[in-house]
Amino acid sequence: MELKGCIFDLDGVIVDTAKYHFMAWRRLAKELGFEFTLEHNEALKGVSRMASLEILLKTGGITVSEKEKERLAARKNGWYVEFISGMTPDEILPGSLRLLRALRKEGILTGIGSASRNAGTILDGIKIRDMFDVIVDGNKILRAKPDPEVFLRGAQEMNLLPSECIVFEDAQAGIEAAIAGGMKCVGVGSPELLGKASLVIPDLKKITVKQLRNL
Ligand code: BG6
Ligand code: MG
Repeated sequence: MELKGCIFDLDGVIVDTAKYHFMAWRRLAKELGFEFTLEHNEALKGVSRMASLEILLKTGGITVSEKEKERLAARKNGWYVEFISGMTPDEILPGSLRLLRALRKEGILTGIGSASRNAGTILDGIKIRDMFDVIVDGNKILRAKPDPEVFLRGAQEMNLLPSECIVFEDAQAGIEAAIAGGMKCVGVGSPELLGKASLVIPDLKKITVKQLRNL
């Protein structure tokens, strides 16, 4: 393929905020009286805040009013924001900066495609904004992954065709979104969970631009 752009999911790909999301959701589940496991959490990755809450409530067999849903989502987000408010560049996952620099050196555009409305806080904390040509986050989009909107918007803001872009994702919903958008996708994590991706790697430490061009 002619690779012209790479779009990175943020939570779980560039930084390990997936663990903070899990800690906050688990705390909410505990308050509601049930255990929320790491296995349950897989289904929440990449999914918007309200869609995540719906899945969590279903897991616990709980029905609440729309107003109560708003309150619960805000409660979870309050804890989450506390967890991410002290983030520093040390928390950038290994290999991320090396890969971003290598791509940019070869004139390949880089972008963020995240469902999170807190992406700005994280990017400021880890001081990495200048490594990205475009940033599309949960504040800019209407439809959550697995809808491809976030990645299509990223490609559009880079003035590229979806077929010229590769997406990096740690979530099943994100991989489905990339495929639905007509993009190649690199799964970052375990092959058992991310099998639908064009390539699955454990982290960003070793992947080369050449390998990406050959996808
Ligand atoms: C995604 C995370 O990046 O953002 C999800 O993988 C999260 O777990 C979603 O629910 C929305 O995040 P936020 O910060 O807007 O609640
Ligand atoms: Mg993610």
